[in-house]
Amino acid sequence: MTTPAEIQFKDVDLDAVATITGKLAVFVGDNGKLDAGARKVNTLTRKALTRFVESEKFEKMSTGDVAAINFPVGLAAETVLVAKLSRRPSTEEARKAGAKLAKAQGDEDLTVLAGNIARADEIALGLALRGYKFDTHKTGDKTPAGAVTFMVSNPEEVAKSAAPMAAIAEGVFFTRDLTNEPANVLTTDDFAARLAAMHELGLEVEILEEDDLERLGMGSLLCVGQGSDSPSKIVVMSWNGGGDEAPFALVGKGVVFDTGGISLKTAAGMEDMTMDMGGAGVVAGVMRTLALRKAKANVVGLVGLVENMPSGNAVRPGDVVKSMKGDTIEVINTDAEGRLVLADVMWYAQERFKPVGMINLATLTGAILVALGHENAGVFSNSDELSESFIKAASLEGEGAWRMPMGKAYDDLLKSRIADMKNIGGRVAGSITAAQFLQRFVKDDVPWCHLDIAGVASVKSETALAPAGATGWGVMALNRLIADKFEG
Ligand code: BES
Ligand code: MN
Ligand code: ZN
Repeated sequence: MTTPAEIQFKDVDLDAVATITGKLAVFVGDNGKLDAGARKVNTLTRKALTRFVESEKFEKMSTGDVAAINFPVGLAAETVLVAKLSRRPSTEEARKAGAKLAKAQGDEDLTVLAGNIARADEIALGLALRGYKFDTHKTGDKTPAGAVTFMVSNPEEVAKSAAPMAAIAEGVFFTRDLTNEPANVLTTDDFAARLAAMHELGLEVEILEEDDLERLGMGSLLCVGQGSDSPSKIVVMSWNGGGDEAPFALVGKGVVFDTGGISLKTAAGMEDMTMDMGGAGVVAGVMRTLALRKAKANVVGLVGLVENMPSGNAVRPGDVVKSMKGDTIEVINTDAEGRLVLADVMWYAQERFKPVGMINLATLTGAILVALGHENAGVFSNSDELSESFIKAASLEGEGAWRMPMGKAYDDLLKSRIADMKNIGGRVAGSITAAQFLQRFVKDDVPWCHLDIAGVASVKSETALAPAGATGWGVMALNRLIADKFEG
């Protein structure tokens, strides 16, 4: 497992600045004002910072940007990193500054002269998140990550406010690791074992095997995995930190690989379907964060783990299957498999836990990429209240989310000649008809959101807080939603 850099918070020792090795970071206000640490570095370097601040380069930097001054005179450090940051940065600006420091850090040790800068905890979170590297499958020498030390005027206080941030970073890293992992490593068995290991953190973890799912009548979920040699499973993770109230439910699509099945996908880009368990990955990451920060809330996370493969016993287009709810489904396209999995997991979650609300996450449709690109997840909901509070939490965390419409006319597109419904709606409004399909398995009195994360779960080029690959989108938004809703 990849773990975030452990960040030390220490007292400021300006007398030590000259002898600190590795990289040294200082902060300069938008107005060019040097704080105490920067002033010390300026004196030692015979006014290198004054010259820098007066340069056009500094003027062109926006808040949160970082520039490097290499091999400065008067310091043992090989580089001074100058972060431009306003005195009262927003969360996003503070995290961005931290992320840019992580990028500039490379493999060296980094000492951040933070003094009494505002949002040192958020700067540290940005640094930790952008420091993620998925190199488990690279052989050869791996340089260990450099150490990170913050020199702050109030180390105990900052360490305390940074503790929940460390829990967030670890949850995000867990999601990214799961989502980046190739499908020959992250099989359904391996995935379940990684979740079971979270028992150590105080989570209750239960695994439902294929015979259990058969007994529950989950013909919809089971048909997806029936062509694979890997057994289908549901994993239930419970965090009970909040007394006796009914829990909030999170449900994730965990297709460890999606070939499309008999409705086989084309070769180009099929390797990306290792990330088709991204929804389950987010659920797992949120549960990890909640456990690590001992959240005062009751949350249950359920993931449906299956592999969608073509084979002699795979489900065929035209087959009719029966869901746990009892509704029958005509499988028109075996590549619309995520909704078949979620239908049974969501129904089970509601029957067993009577949740106060439910959010499901899924890399569900390519159509959401066409609509929203990599900037926003699609939000589909039967509740203005829940969807608005989720979108607000996401926006505060810098995670894009956009509400999409639903309605009866879309639902009508799912009518089947021979069964209760088809699993696809046709060519138009593909993301919406997928959401309508899911809503058929949501009880009327359960506030519910479906998050289509096909565009945001994994990206080809780096984002502000993540290198290319899995982003961990949604862990921070859901963690905040739960904190605001149940721990306020
Ligand atoms: N896992 C895919 C959706 C997807 C596509 C995720 C691209 C990430 C990137 C999903 O199972 C799928 O194949 N959906 C089909 C549905 C169609 C058959 C109605 C799609 O989007 O093409
Ligand atoms: Mn598919
Ligand atoms: Zn899929």
